[in-house]
Order: sequence, then structure tokens, then C-alpha cells
Amino acid sequence: MNPSSEHPFSQGLRTERVGEPCAMVIFGASGDLSHRKLLPALYNLSLSGVLPANFAVVGFAKDEFSQESYRTEMKKAVAEHSRRKPLDEEVWGDFAAGLDYVSGSFEDLASFQKLKAALERADQERGTRGNRLFYCAVPPSVMPLILKQLSAAGLVQNRGKGKPWSRIILEKPFGHDTESARELNACVHEVFAESQVYRIDHYLGKETVQNLMVFRFGNSIFEPIWNRQFVDHVQITAAEDIGVERRGAYYEEAGILRDMVQNHLMQLLSLTAMESPVAMDADAVRDEKVKVLRAIRPVLREEVQQYTVRGQYARGAYHGKAAAAYREEERVAKDSRMATFAALKLYVDNWRWEGVPFYLRTGKRLPKRVTEISVHFQRLPHALFGAMQGEAARNVLAIRIQPDEGISMRFNSKVPGEGMRVRTVNMDFRYGQAFGAEPPEAYERLLLDSMIGDATLFTRADEVDTAWRLVTEILEGWKEWPSDPSFYEAGSWGPQAAEDLIGADGRHWRRL
Ligand code: BG6
Repeated sequence: MNPSSEHPFSQGLRTERVGEPCAMVIFGASGDLSHRKLLPALYNLSLSGVLPANFAVVGFAKDEFSQESYRTEMKKAVAEHSRRKPLDEEVWGDFAAGLDYVSGSFEDLASFQKLKAALERADQERGTRGNRLFYCAVPPSVMPLILKQLSAAGLVQNRGKGKPWSRIILEKPFGHDTESARELNACVHEVFAESQVYRIDHYLGKETVQNLMVFRFGNSIFEPIWNRQFVDHVQITAAEDIGVERRGAYYEEAGILRDMVQNHLMQLLSLTAMESPVAMDADAVRDEKVKVLRAIRPVLREEVQQYTVRGQYARGAYHGKAAAAYREEERVAKDSRMATFAALKLYVDNWRWEGVPFYLRTGKRLPKRVTEISVHFQRLPHALFGAMQGEAARNVLAIRIQPDEGISMRFNSKVPGEGMRVRTVNMDFRYGQAFGAEPPEAYERLLLDSMIGDATLFTRADEVDTAWRLVTEILEGWKEWPSDPSFYEAGSWGPQAAEDLIGADGRHWRRL
């Protein structure tokens, strides 16, 4: 593109942050995540010129690939899933020259010795300087074994500033309840110090999620009204139109609470409710987020019917086509009670938020994919222009996380003409229009941060633990809930019970 024809706001958008030389090892290198997210993200970093020049990737999995066939397989994956198309052959060629593969088993220490040899080769041929970035794209049950073998093979080092470093990135889910997460944390800490650990929640890598902090702490006009004196309630919705697809077996283990609430929704809630950190560094930001999680009033197991809704999709329609019920999906029990939808009413018991409900809802097979945080302000103290009903009654600030990323403010305006008719209008900010640039994928940002050593957008051990404690209590309550979940038609906005949860307080879900 001719620089003079660039969108004016896109100038200066390029970050000058470049990763440190390192070799990245991907455990689970032949899996779905590597194909759809990790390799495309690395390629895009390379395309943006921010991948370190001295960089190598060593894939590790049990499938039999040669170095050549792994490169071919990944080229196909990147060509299909990269956000920027078509594939740039030259950039791919440079990137692929540093792409290696080790076929091995997690049980077998000799496989880790092979990995060690591949990494030493990378140091010599690619100049990766002994720096290691391990990525566990595997289920949490396998992670302890990997950690043990890494340590036994002498692959982990942390000799201090200026010396070769090792870091580990752990994919979600991080455990499946409080106890398992604690056990996993203990295994991790036997081998790595917390400062070397990067627990991924890809929502934190989304531009709009990071912008929440800029919006709140980079402007002076919102802070004075961001509290219980002005806010009536907050809604957080993460809706997906897809069903569980081929992940029936995983979903039967996880369900919506573990898959979406413990991590993504809790992150959105803490960023919305947190106090300003003292600095934009990893510890300061995460300290404030943990304080919010600790202030959330736990929903006790005997209270789940009052504060939560547990839904599951029944047959319905999806984009005009018939959609199967969850119980009819592959590898799902015919009488499964697993939730594919959850709605929660939570309170954050601190000075800022006392008495302000936070309504959360998330589900599969809803009418569309949309994630939004909306802050609903209090009603007018006095109805000067007549009683305002429904939507018109409150100002709403909506932060659209995805898609159509942006922020909109709803307020009332005079309808042109004689008389004093009032109507609700929106003031909109749209990312795409304002910056003329497509935001990078969350994984790009997170991988780059881990290469730089910035853990701000990763989840700390105490954060994970606090979120699990809240969710585990609800999971226990749901286990004891004797009835089936509330069914909802695929393609609808969830069960009636979700409307009732918010309706009982005289409020309603925002129409999205
Ligand atoms: C993942 C969940 O963490 O997030 C999936 O495991 C879900 O079930 C996905 O579909 C949603 O991510 P995004 O970025 O599409 O909102």
C-alpha cells in the first residue's frame, strides 16, 4: 500500500516490540490448536516483522511426521487459517526454515532427550541462545507428566538476568475444579517459578478486552460515574451460535461453567470492576483483578437455584437449518445433564459495587456470536419529559468485544419537530472505521508477550485459584440439583429461566 493512502490513524500503530531470540517447543504440535491458532499466529508475527530473527519452533507430538512433512502440513494449515491471505511464500519460507519436529511420547524420557538435541541444534543453526518457550497445548491431565520429564531431561533453566531463560505457557482449561487446579499449580511450581509461568486465557489477548483498561483508566470522564451511585447493574454476555461441534467428549467433561465462565467471563468481570492499578505491569494489574475475584460474593451450593440458571440446547434451528439437540451430538450421553448455557447473578462486595448486580450469561447455539459488556446507569431522578419506558429509561454504555468491535453510548434525544418527543439514540465508536486496521488475533499478542517476558495478560496462580473457588461451589450445587437443566431451543436466547432471573429484579437482558 502506498503510505500516503494509508488510513491516517494506522500510522504509528506498528508496535516496536520484538520478541527475544528463543526456541519454542509446542507439545501437542499436531493438534487442532496448533493448526488453527498457534502456527497461523506465529506466521502472522513473522509477517508483521516482530518475530525475533533468531527463532525456531520444535513441534512435539506422537504422530509420525518428518521435518519435511510437518512443514508441509503446517503450510497447509497456515494458508487456510491465517487472517492474512494469500500466504506470502517468501515469509513462509524463512519461517519454515526454523520449523522442526520431534515425534515422541510424553511417557518416554528418551523422547525428551531427542527434543533436547533438537533444541541444541536450533541454538547452533538459528542462534536461539538457549532460551526456551514451552507451550503445553494438551489437556491438563497430561501437563504434570510433561513437567516431570522437562525437569528430568534438564531442559528447564532460569539462571537469572542476562542468562538463558525458560518459560512455560499453559493452555486452558487449567484443572477442572479447585482441587485439581491446586494440584496442577503445585506440579508447575516444582519445576518453574511463578514468574516463568504464562497461563493463557485468550480473551485477554483480544484488542477490545485490553481496550477496557484504556477506556477506563485512560479517560477521566468515566471514573466518577463507574460505581454504585450511578450504575444500576452490569450485563456481560458471551453468546455463540455454534454448538459443541466435534467436541462432545470434551464438553461432557467441561460444560459451560468450566469452558467459558471460570476463565473468559471472570476475566471480563474483573476488568470491568477492578480499581486502577498502580502501574501497567504484570503484578500491579493482576493484584487488582484478584481483589475483584475475592470480593465476589460466593454463590453457595444451596443458593444455586436462586442465583444461577443451567440450560441445555434442545432441537431448534440454526441459520435457517434444523439443528440437533445437545443430547443428539456426537459423543454426548442421551440423558446428559451437562449445561451448554449459564446465567448468573453475582455481587461484588466492596465499596465501589455494593448492591450492584452483575448479570452474566453465556451459551452455545444462541442466535448469534456476540460478546458484550453493558453498563446500565440509573433511571432519571425526575421524569421531566414524561415517563420513559423500557429501553429509554436508562443510559447504557455498551462495550462490544466481538464482532463489530466498538463502544456505544445510548442516550435520549429530542425528536426533530414541534413538541417535546424524546427518542433513544446511540453514539458509536467502531474500531474498524476509526483505525482502518484489522486487529491482530489474540494469540499473536499473547505469544509475542511471552517471548518478551511480559505476563500482564496471563493469569496468575492466585487468580486461577480464586476463580475456581467461585465456580467449584456452583458446580457442586449443580451436581446436587435433581432436575434436568432448563432446555432452550437451539437458535434462541436461552431458557425462560434466564429471563426470569433478571426479570425478577424488574430488569431485562439487553437485546443484542
Ligand atoms: C474457548 C472455548 O476457550 O473459547 C470454546 O473452549 C469457545 O468453547 C471459545 O468456543 C470462544 O472463543 P472466541 O474467541 O471465539 O470468543
